[in-house]
Amino acid sequence: MCGIVGYIGKKEALPILLGGLRDLEYRGYDSAGIAVLDDGKIKRIREIGKVDFLVKKIGQQVIKGNLGIAHTRWATHGGVTVPNAHPHTAGEGKLMLVHNGIIENYRELKKELKDQNFESETDSEILAKLIYQNYDAKDKDSLLKAVKKTLPQVRGTYGLLVMHADHPDELVAARLGSPLVIGIGNDENKREYYIASDVTPILPFTKQVTFLDDGEVADIDLAGLKIFNIKDELIAKGITKIEWDKEKAQKNGYENFMLKEIFDQPAVFEDAIRGRINMKEGTAVLGGLAMTPEEMRNIKRIVIVACGTASYAGMIGKYAFERLADIPTEVDISSEFRYRDPVINEKTLVFALSQSGETLDTLMAVREAKRKGATVRSIVNVVGSTIAREAGAGTYIHAGPEIAVASTKAFTNTVAVLLLYALEFGRLRHVTLATGERLLSGLLEIPGKMNRILAEASKIKIIAEKYKNYPNFFFLGRGINYPMAMEGSLKLKETSYIHSEAYPAGEMKHGAIALLSPDFPVLAIMTKNQLYEKMKSGVQEVRARKSKVIVIATEGDEEAKEMADDIIYVPKTMELLEPLLNTIPLQLFAYYVAVGLGRDIDRPRNLAKSVTVE
Ligand code: AGP
Repeated sequence: MCGIVGYIGKKEALPILLGGLRDLEYRGYDSAGIAVLDDGKIKRIREIGKVDFLVKKIGQQVIKGNLGIAHTRWATHGGVTVPNAHPHTAGEGKLMLVHNGIIENYRELKKELKDQNFESETDSEILAKLIYQNYDAKDKDSLLKAVKKTLPQVRGTYGLLVMHADHPDELVAARLGSPLVIGIGNDENKREYYIASDVTPILPFTKQVTFLDDGEVADIDLAGLKIFNIKDELIAKGITKIEWDKEKAQKNGYENFMLKEIFDQPAVFEDAIRGRINMKEGTAVLGGLAMTPEEMRNIKRIVIVACGTASYAGMIGKYAFERLADIPTEVDISSEFRYRDPVINEKTLVFALSQSGETLDTLMAVREAKRKGATVRSIVNVVGSTIAREAGAGTYIHAGPEIAVASTKAFTNTVAVLLLYALEFGRLRHVTLATGERLLSGLLEIPGKMNRILAEASKIKIIAEKYKNYPNFFFLGRGINYPMAMEGSLKLKETSYIHSEAYPAGEMKHGAIALLSPDFPVLAIMTKNQLYEKMKSGVQEVRARKSKVIVIATEGDEEAKEMADDIIYVPKTMELLEPLLNTIPLQLFAYYVAVGLGRDIDRPRNLAKSVTVE
């Protein structure tokens, strides 16, 4: 997710753009850039790093002008370089564009361009050049028309802003899947407009905004704002008065980043699978793997190295690779992997999982695996991070910046990418087209099913209130839900500071059950899968010891209701996809317990978002 800012009016644009970029840095901060129109010429300056580095690069340069656009980048296509930074240009600097989103068919669109001179590796530059190619300098409405003519050719998502040196009183904006909001200012009774990815950069100037909806195009002209719907009809949009302060706006109205990121999951999950599904072949297409089918068939073993939540995602990957691709897979905690004698060679594929891409233990595991001749691939969130670069190839999970220390959306997207990888390998082995199609259809239903669980958040909050003062917790699961029990236990520990332990439910009777008592509640994941009956006996054992039991069950399971003190329902899905749904009640339970205890939700004590020490 990137940050976009635009301004047109009477004021100097530059300070508004730079201030707006600072407000949006939480959306992405690997590079930034501005473009301002001054007396018929556009001045563009871009720099890698945070906005401060851009300000430093601008230095004492005088950049005048009342129309401009700006962008702070969260890289998805192409590394972190100045040429890849926005704004992107076309027409020898006449047209400038900033874009937030992913253009899936940018390779096909690239072939349609007469101008094959590219500055960058990005999908956004293709968009700029295509709009310019559709621009007709003889027509005064040509900027708006060029955007309208281009967008139907595009597959993917965009929030975009376009300016042109020959249109000093006009900006064109468009939205599909990535947010854009237009602030309506009034400077000495003169119209002025502020455009941004969210209201934060706009609030210092006006609270009157209009939110673009998907498919809409806005012609932002000092003569007046015109908004067209997906059918190209001129529409009247309502004006909203924003009551949020700036901080709340950055969290999109949520109390904190953790809750925002939990609720972001349906949308960012779609970003993880977008453009990576081949329904016709019932397989996945992960370009970053950079292996031929022959090389993939020669892989005899998979090792997954990761820490914390990422390692639990890795354990889900283990089930998926073994079930779909018949490849023996083991998961190693990175800090352990480095100090044992792992048996790896050129027939071993090592996946390094990391949200930050900077976790030192995992980075060292990558170096160890490379030293021993393994094929190493990264599955990370932060583009251009050290682990991504040192692995040499891999896949980005497109979860957008994850600000809260407790990882939520990155877990879900990592699991999604691992499932896609397992399917891609599986379809080269024994997985049939029908199974592949069924799995992909199941994946496509996940965002809707996630939303159904999120809609029940208030019920989970009530349950969390009941249990927030217990000093200990067990999280129980079996099979693919054992890693989920571990993830749920970690979420509770790291956000609420309550001691909790995850246990494979079948193992409780071998000792740990001695701990159970009315003061030692249990959260059991008992969804309808092949181990449901086994889980039921486990829950009955727990209840016989008078422990209170919260059960995560499949919608419609009345039997589970009889066995639970409290129940959280999740929609039915394929067993391999269950973690994508079961993680949400676990995240919300931990979140609301921590809120109930007044904890620092986004920055829990003793923790850091990225552990770059041993
Ligand atoms: C997750 O909630 C924790 N904050 C922590 O376990 C984290 O998953 C771990 O430190 C790994 O971080 P990474 O994904 O950035 O490598």
